[in-house]
Amino acid sequence: MVNALLRAEAVGKSYSLKGERIDVLRDVDLTVRAGEITALVGRSGSGKTTLLHILGLLAAPDRGRVLVGEADMSGLGDGALADVRRRRIGFVFQAYSLLPQHSALRNVLLPHAGPRARGEERARGLLDRVGLAGRARHAPGELSGGEQQRVALARALINDPPVVLADEPTGNLDEAAERVLLGLFRELADEGRAVVLVTHDPAVSDAADVVHRLDSGVLAPEGSAA
Ligand SMILES: Nc1ncnc2c1ncn2[C@@H]1O[C@H](COP(=O)(O)OP(=O)(O)OP(=O)(O)O)[C@@H](O)[C@H]1O
Ligand SMILES: [Mg+2]
Repeated sequence: MVNALLRAEAVGKSYSLKGERIDVLRDVDLTVRAGEITALVGRSGSGKTTLLHILGLLAAPDRGRVLVGEADMSGLGDGALADVRRRRIGFVFQAYSLLPQHSALRNVLLPHAGPRARGEERARGLLDRVGLAGRARHAPGELSGGEQQRVALARALINDPPVVLADEPTGNLDEAAERVLLGLFRELADEGRAVVLVTHDPAVSDAADVVHRLDSGVLAPEGSAA
């Protein structure tokens, strides 16, 4: 399929804790398409972050594989994976992971691949786009939670990735800020990107084109009989 940007095939992940094995993900299949917002929902602890990290090449599955475009990521070493991540995937973490000692602008610029001057111009443009043009010089500790979240989104977009993955991106936002952010995710999808949002928030899943629910390690399209 031409517009499949990211795919999980029969992905499994298990954790062993004190001799007890937990199958967090069982045989998960997911195709993420360009131009669409995909929402991943499920109760707390159902494996949403685990799946998003695997899709974002931040963790390897124990079973199955992840494809970016047509390319199988299974055999790649850390350096090659980091390269695919930097160029193809923008990731917004559940706890934004901004570096506290750096300004908003510097945080956005950090993962930039390419000439510094161009990166800085782009970083300023992205801060403007997320509504934070006036906060470029603030450190994360001088920003609200919702502002930090938007800086993290700007950072995820610095290398113009075709795939954007965000873990609970509206967790700290009021309704108005949430609408703005959802509008931004819609724009990113309309630009031809694939957007995947992990969420507990019905307003977010309502705004998505496809919703998948994780339950007992199994992923199924919302509303299906499965
Ligand atoms: N490193 C680990 N070792 C053992 N168990 C883990 C580890 N990481 C996650 N888990 C377990 O895997 C399960 C899924 O965790 P995950 O963070 O993916 O859930 P989630 O759906 O994102 O939850 P939330 O909505 O609360 O963020 C949880 O039960 C968690 O305890
Ligand atoms: Mg989580």
